[in-house]
Amino acid sequence: MRTPFIAGNWKMYKTVAETVKYVKEFRALVKDVDGVEIVVAPPFTAVRAAAEAARNSNVGIAAQDLHWEREGAFTGEVSGAMIREAGAEYVIVGHSERRTLFGESDASVNRKIAAACAAGLCPIVCIGETFDQRERQETFDVLDRQIKQGLDGLTSDRMAQLVVAYEPVWAIGTGRNATPEQAAEAHAHIRRRLRQWFGPDAAELCHVIYGGSVKPDNITSLMSQPEVDGALVGGASLDVRSFLEIVTKGRDARLR
Ligand code: 13P
Repeated sequence: MRTPFIAGNWKMYKTVAETVKYVKEFRALVKDVDGVEIVVAPPFTAVRAAAEAARNSNVGIAAQDLHWEREGAFTGEVSGAMIREAGAEYVIVGHSERRTLFGESDASVNRKIAAACAAGLCPIVCIGETFDQRERQETFDVLDRQIKQGLDGLTSDRMAQLVVAYEPVWAIGTGRNATPEQAAEAHAHIRRRLRQWFGPDAAELCHVIYGGSVKPDNITSLMSQPEVDGALVGGASLDVRSFLEIVTKGRDARLR
């Protein structure tokens, strides 16, 4: 049985001061919330402060991206080792905003996953189709390509520890979430492929979470689908109370 995994992706929101205030308040509110893995992903500048504020709590910290090299002449980039040293345990890789706005490809995602694992970070790998691709009934082909090329060369042991986030691009920041049935269908397809390419054990252990307009009022129906292991939450994770509600409702949906 996979423990539900709920992460907040803050994107380019929150200063260090805002991060520390949030994490202090949030850790107190979730200190007795068990049966769920909780992660927040602040911007790079606030990763260390977040990790310090979350120390000895049940809140894990993620970065939102990394470079695939350990160090080098890559102006503006941050490596996995640097992120790990700052206190994060997770890193988001291949978010659709990185893919569409910053030229991220399946090949770069692949290198970044390897770098994250080498640095001792758990990658949260984002995949998902655009609206046009769904309309053209290419969803499964797109997911297959992103999984095959993005996860190429990964061992089954590494795969077992990975978090795959299914984030349909048309549902991100639009207030238009996938229906629980659409999410379940995509998640079942993803897990089928993971089973085929990485074996039944790795596929069974790997988390497949959903992202795209997750809110307190739709988390229960999404997480009631056995295929949905958790959520990657954007906008609704920026507010402590709203994220707390998503975490507790998501956990409770799974316990029922
Ligand atoms: P929203 O929850 O704001 O739609 O963002 C989803 C997302 O991109 C999480 O990574």
